[in-house]
Amino acid sequence: MHITEFTIVNLLYLVAALAFIIGLRRLSSPDTARKGNLLAAFGMGLAIIVTLFSPIFDAQNTMIATENNYLWIAGGLVVGSLFGWRAAMKIAMTAMPQMVSVFNGLGGACAVLLGIIEVIKSYNGDQAMAVAQWVIVLFAILVGAVSFSGSMLAFAKLDGRVDDRKVTFKGHGTVNNILLVLVVVTGVLWIVMLPEYRVVFAIVFIVLSLIYGYSFVAPIGGADMPVVISLLNSFTGLTAAAAGLIYGSQIMLLGGILVGASGTILTILMCEAMNRSLLNVIIGQFGGGGAAAGGKDGEQVAKEITISDAAILLFYSQSVVFVPGYGLAVAQAQKDCKELADQLEKNGVDVKYAIHPVAGRMPGHMNVLLAEADVPYPKLIDEQTANDAMADTDVVVVVGANDVVNPAALDDPSSPIYGMPVIEAWKAKNVIVMKRSMSAGYAGIQNQLFFHERNKMLFGDAKDSMQKLIQEVKTL
Ligand code: TAP
Repeated sequence: MHITEFTIVNLLYLVAALAFIIGLRRLSSPDTARKGNLLAAFGMGLAIIVTLFSPIFDAQNTMIATENNYLWIAGGLVVGSLFGWRAAMKIAMTAMPQMVSVFNGLGGACAVLLGIIEVIKSYNGDQAMAVAQWVIVLFAILVGAVSFSGSMLAFAKLDGRVDDRKVTFKGHGTVNNILLVLVVVTGVLWIVMLPEYRVVFAIVFIVLSLIYGYSFVAPIGGADMPVVISLLNSFTGLTAAAAGLIYGSQIMLLGGILVGASGTILTILMCEAMNRSLLNVIIGQFGGGGAAAGGKDGEQVAKEITISDAAILLFYSQSVVFVPGYGLAVAQAQKDCKELADQLEKNGVDVKYAIHPVAGRMPGHMNVLLAEADVPYPKLIDEQTANDAMADTDVVVVVGANDVVNPAALDDPSSPIYGMPVIEAWKAKNVIVMKRSMSAGYAGIQNQLFFHERNKMLFGDAKDSMQKLIQEVKTL
């Protein structure tokens, strides 16, 4: 068999594609996730190297030229790597979703720039584009622009720089629909317009797409942010797939489809976890408004528990369930939580960790933290399993969680989180909530659990309280 450069290049792409797929598959279990991630990264590295050094082939797959822009590419790689490395080293684990949003947005911005370059080439007469190619280029620009401006707003919201309620208004959904129609009409006019108007339509199309991205994310807020983040992630995958079509690159198309498909699956899983349809999330203005709902604490008093009473209650229990939340991540109390669990288990206590799918600030946030603390995976239970066993649980310890244990999700139809499944901690025999104050969680609403007759508050930083509990338990 005659092996050509074309065959070698495609074989290497096949290896890269297999690495993506097997790597992705391995991400589905914490035991194999680290290796899966490395394998997928190897695949991406291989795909980039092969693309950079592969020759150009003609229609008969014969090598016609080796093109290079290596100086520009090296410059981009160095600058990008320095920024990426610095950001990854500096970022706090709790700010990870913000970083994901920014990186996601930049991927979208890339697709817009690639699309614009293709358009400029066509206007200069360097290449002719058929209508189908125009549609792909416009799709890449539209979805890329939406990912960019939407992700930037998501970043600002997650980082607390923008108040959800200030960027939305009544009838926002209708305005968004009108904007989308305007974008599509402008896109069609851009393709069919006479040359003298093409630049105007191009500018209007890009600006409208950016505005639509911002306006699309604006009404989504509060507890719905996880859904919008994974949705924007899948959008970026689609833009990469479109770019793959533009350049005729199968590996880019495949990578984009994998990101788009996995982002879509994650979005669907998130919606299921929140018990909402995607459409409802997008148009529902859920979680953004009504932030003060459920605040009936004026006349109510929450009971407190001391460290020593909490230690005794835990040590002499038969079953304890920890419910970790965002506060655990802020306090970095995961290792202390595991140490306390170890102490309790020495006394025969059955310890489990109930994980809510949107606890923390990113998908799998709690799983990652607990894996870091070497908590065995079988000790993690999902919210349904935890709820089924709740009545037989002696103590539920809520560690820096709030929205995910809020009963308003079940019994207050006016609450912005109404309908979201939650961990029903109040059904256990005793509840201890560890947090620093009575302040609200991400959705900005009060929590009636704090005033429940079986609940006691253990105020303080979660790490600090955990360490004190460990010391106290050791003396028992
Ligand atoms: P939240 O509802 O955000 O509550 C976290 C609680 O932790 C706060 O009430 C805070 O109370 C407490 N806390 C903060 N720092 C602490 C510390 N050092 N020590 C002890 N407690 C501390 O958290 P959750 O229950 O995990 O719910 C997650 C929320 O974020 C949901 O609304 C979810 O929709 C949203 N969200 C999730 C994601 C993903 S994908 N998971 C992404 C974006 C948004 P104090 O200030 O009184 O201590």
